[in-house]
Amino acid sequence: MSPELSSKPSKLSVIGAGAVGSSLAYAALTRGSAREIALYDINEAKVNAEVADLQHGTQFTPTNAMMGGADISVVKNSSVVIITAGAAQKPGQTRLELAATNVKILSSLMPQLLEQAPDAIYVLVTNPCDVLTVVAQKISGLPAGRCFSTGTMLDTSRLRWGIARTCGIHQSNVHANILGEHGDSEFPVWSTARIGQIPIREWTDDHGKQVFNDALLDELADEAMHAAYKVIEGKGATNYAIGLTGARLTEALHSPTRRLLPVSSVLTDYKGVSDVALSVTSIVSNKGVERVLDVPMTDGELERFRHSATTLRASLKELGF
Ligand code: 2OP
Repeated sequence: MSPELSSKPSKLSVIGAGAVGSSLAYAALTRGSAREIALYDINEAKVNAEVADLQHGTQFTPTNAMMGGADISVVKNSSVVIITAGAAQKPGQTRLELAATNVKILSSLMPQLLEQAPDAIYVLVTNPCDVLTVVAQKISGLPAGRCFSTGTMLDTSRLRWGIARTCGIHQSNVHANILGEHGDSEFPVWSTARIGQIPIREWTDDHGKQVFNDALLDELADEAMHAAYKVIEGKGATNYAIGLTGARLTEALHSPTRRLLPVSSVLTDYKGVSDVALSVTSIVSNKGVERVLDVPMTDGELERFRHSATTLRASLKELGF
C-alpha cells in the first residue's frame, strides 16, 4: 500500500472502462493508490470483464478490494472519482474537437456520481479535460479545489522523460513543467527549469560541455507536446502514461502531504485570467487543490499562458459555458 495513504478509508472510483480507465485502475491497483478501487462503465460486459481480469491478479497487489460494474452504486462513498468516460481522439484529431460529445456525456454523468459520492474529490481525465473541468465544476457546484483535471501532469512527465533521457539524470531531479492547456496551446516554462539546482541551459555533460541549447529545448518541448498524436497514430490510444498519472494523483489526494503538481483547476483572477481551467503548479493534498501558485513567467511565457486561456474560453463559449 502506498506509504502516502492516510489512515482514513480511501476509495478510488474510475469512471469509464476503456483503455484509459482500465489502465488507470490497473496502475492504481499495482501501486496501492487506494484501499478500495471500483471501475464503472455503462457497457456491462466490458466493465465486468475488466474488473474480473483485475481481480484475478489481486493475489499479487497491495489490496484485493477491487470491484465494479455497470451499476452506478459501485461508486458509493468514493473519496476520489476519476472520470475517463467519453470519446477519445482518433488519429490526427485534436482534443478540443471532442468537446461537444463529451460535454453531453459528462452532463448526464455528473449528477449521478454526486448522488453516490457527494464528498469525493473529482478529477477529469476525459478530453478536452480543461474544458470539461469548467463544465463539471459548474454542473456540480463543487469548489474549484475539489473538481479539477490531471491537465499537463502527463505532458510534464513526458517533458521530464525527454530531458532525463538526454542528460542521463533521473526525472526526480528534473524540475521543468509544461503549463496551460492540456492540448495544442500548452507551453514549457523554460525560464525556471532546473536540473537539481542548475538552471537547465547551464547544465553540462561530464566533460563540461553545455547540453541544452535553445534548439534542443524546442525539440524536447515539441516531442512532449506532440507525443499523444504519435502514440495514437501507432496504437490507437494513449493509456499507460495517463493511467500512471491518475494513480499517482490518487495517492496525493489520499495523503495529508502537500505536493506541488501541475494540475488544471478553474482560475480566478490568476495573472488576469478567470473562469477557465488551465494547468498551473498547485499545492495538492487530501484536501484537493489547496492553492494555485503564482509561478514566475517571462513576458513570452505569460503571453502563451494567456493564449491558452483565450483558446479554451473560445471553446467554452461555443459550448454555451
Ligand atoms: C494524452 O495526452 C490523449 O490527452 C491524452 O495522452
